[in-house]
Amino acid sequence: SIDKNGGGCPFDHSVRSLLGRTNRDWWPQALAVDILSPNGPVNPMGDDFDYAEAFKQLDYDALKADLVALMTDSQPWWPADYGHYGPFFIRMAWHAAGTYRTGDGRGGANSGQQRFAPLDSWPDNGNLDKARRLLWPIKQKYGKHISWADLFILTGNVAIESMGGPVFGFGGGRADVYEPEKDIYWGEEDKWVNEGVETRIRPDEGYHELDGPLAAIQMGLIYVNPEGPGGNPDPLLSARDMKATFERMAMNHEETVALTAGGHTFGKAHGNGDPSLLGAAPAGGDLTALGFGWVSTHESGGIGEHTVTSGIEGAWVNTPTEWSENYFRLLLDYEYELVRSPAGAQQWQPINQREEDMAPAAWDSSIKVPTMMTTADMALKVDPEFRAISERFRNDHEAFKDAFARAWFKLTHRDMGPKVRYLGPDVPAEDLIWQDPVPAGTMPSDADVDAVKAKIRDSGLTVSQLIKTAWASASTYRKSDHRGGANGARIRLAPQKDWEVNEPEMLAKVLDTLEGLRGTLSMADAIVLGGVVGLEKAIADAGFSVPVPFTGGRGDATQEQTDVDSFAPLEPQADGFRNYQPKKLRVLTEEMLLDRASLLGLSVPEMTVLVGGLRVLGANHGERGHGHFTKRAGQLTNDFFVNLLGMTNVWKSVEGSDDQEYIASDRAGGHETWRATRADLVFGSNSELRAVAEIYAETGHEEKFVKDFVKAWTKVMNADRFDLAA
Ligand code: HEM
Repeated sequence: SIDKNGGGCPFDHSVRSLLGRTNRDWWPQALAVDILSPNGPVNPMGDDFDYAEAFKQLDYDALKADLVALMTDSQPWWPADYGHYGPFFIRMAWHAAGTYRTGDGRGGANSGQQRFAPLDSWPDNGNLDKARRLLWPIKQKYGKHISWADLFILTGNVAIESMGGPVFGFGGGRADVYEPEKDIYWGEEDKWVNEGVETRIRPDEGYHELDGPLAAIQMGLIYVNPEGPGGNPDPLLSARDMKATFERMAMNHEETVALTAGGHTFGKAHGNGDPSLLGAAPAGGDLTALGFGWVSTHESGGIGEHTVTSGIEGAWVNTPTEWSENYFRLLLDYEYELVRSPAGAQQWQPINQREEDMAPAAWDSSIKVPTMMTTADMALKVDPEFRAISERFRNDHEAFKDAFARAWFKLTHRDMGPKVRYLGPDVPAEDLIWQDPVPAGTMPSDADVDAVKAKIRDSGLTVSQLIKTAWASASTYRKSDHRGGANGARIRLAPQKDWEVNEPEMLAKVLDTLEGLRGTLSMADAIVLGGVVGLEKAIADAGFSVPVPFTGGRGDATQEQTDVDSFAPLEPQADGFRNYQPKKLRVLTEEMLLDRASLLGLSVPEMTVLVGGLRVLGANHGERGHGHFTKRAGQLTNDFFVNLLGMTNVWKSVEGSDDQEYIASDRAGGHETWRATRADLVFGSNSELRAVAEIYAETGHEEKFVKDFVKAWTKVMNADRFDLAA
């Protein structure tokens, strides 16, 4: 879509790179600390540090008491509005969690990413560097017993509680990382929201412009532009954007209203000054600012009264440091007019506001100032659907409190995976459907396992069927939000049982057979054990004797315990491990394979050995023979690598396949030898993958290949066994 003269649309919307625009694109001058990565892990705590253990030794009550005290301990270098940091910390926690998106489960609060670029420098995260620095003395004091990731969320909770707001609970267990996430796509635009980049939803084209997993409407935003789409102060269009983006973070419309209204019951927006006086964001900031960004050259240093963050100015309610019913009252009882803040932002002001409904000035409570609403807040008043929810909450404050507390808990815990991963005394007893509950399983005896194994061996199920079914069950796992996986056997429930990638008919047959053989084992265990049986046969048939480990104890979830809609995003659009890709995507096939391997938590050799092994085992989707470079089907051999890397074959793209399918012919004889996809050939064409593939093709490494395959396979089968660690 780029025309010859370089005009028109800035992007070719038909393709994008997996990662879009990355830190190095934004900040080419940034110190390349990661050149040291090959010399050792970046995590200073080392591999054997167990955060869960350290958290269990935390003096949780003392930490909470210190956080309560911090709320009102105003510092001269960043004075607390109204003498209370609570609202500021709520925004910090909300923005830490709010990057989560259902599409790939990435983003979110679970690794403390707000400390790193690009998030530390997103326009929407303006001045949150100060919030983190206010917390530093407490982080320093409690050290390894509380991660930054947990501290962000716990501080948000304590802030809400300390201002009288409702809190549903807190689960710890978010281990910190020490470098920016490198596997996440934040978009491809080369400008930030405040530099005039277009909104990702175009009014005339609908939502499809909001591509892939993205859940924010413009580059550098958590969700929507507070001033309205692309700065257009239209509350109805803002409602449309809010619905689209909050849905992508797993929030329904009621949760969206509850969260926004509850959040804006506290605090204020900052825009009492000239935004052009603000310096660079932290990632491009001055060395002497020691990590602070947006340093202002305003006469007072741009703090307190003169703070500019979003550019919008004012509090939403008259009581900004207390939980109250005032948000909906002011929103619904007043008419509003569009005005501009001192920083020039468009915002809405109540018409003829009574003095008792005005807010104190943040820096001097004896001064009264008008309250305000952003265009996004006005959406809750103007959009008919939002309005109905707002009115219901206004008339039933208890319902609003409960909805806010639950939605906040979901927001801040959505990416932690199953409840068994939560730590600490405030974990709520109630099970919630979005936690994908799985009933505890029982560990089967060796004798039971052996008996079921023997039955599966004699069942007539093929290696290919057993491998495909176990893979389909376990490979939904994503380490980004710890969802999916073999535990629970959701492969036999909607929606997974009907996904095309799982070959529903074949799957139903295999599951039916396993159901009849499983004895006392759970279905989840029987499926994984089926994979073990298939592998053992394939290994023996190839002439090796390498044992395949099995750890039982999985439970079976019911359909009632499964939120069908929320599982939809786990459906693979492509799975290079099964050579499945029903249509050409915007991201290259080999990049989709890499992405899936990344979500499965696999290393380069693990991905490589799995693809090579799965091909010869016949794990391809349907009857697809692509990448099946062997004449010994069903034997676990390294034939895939041997035949791919040798010079016997000449490869070319299949005509009309749009570079999706390839055919090899014998260099000497000219006859067709093999067929392949991009997910096959990349192991020959990419120099790094080729280097690893060579190892598996080398003489003397035949058994190493088998052993490495078994290890990587077992890792995938057990990826979601948090119950074992607990
Ligand atoms: C502050 C927008 C949702 C909690 C702000 C500010 C803006 C904004 C522009 C002012 C930042 C500044 O200048 O300091 C939005 C939009 C939302 C949204 C457009 C979604 C449509 C939420 C949610 C929560 C929340 C879901 C929490 C549950 C807060 C709090 C503040 C704040 C507590 C006050 C911070 C302070 O006093 O320093 N929001 N917000 N917001 N937001 Fe939101």
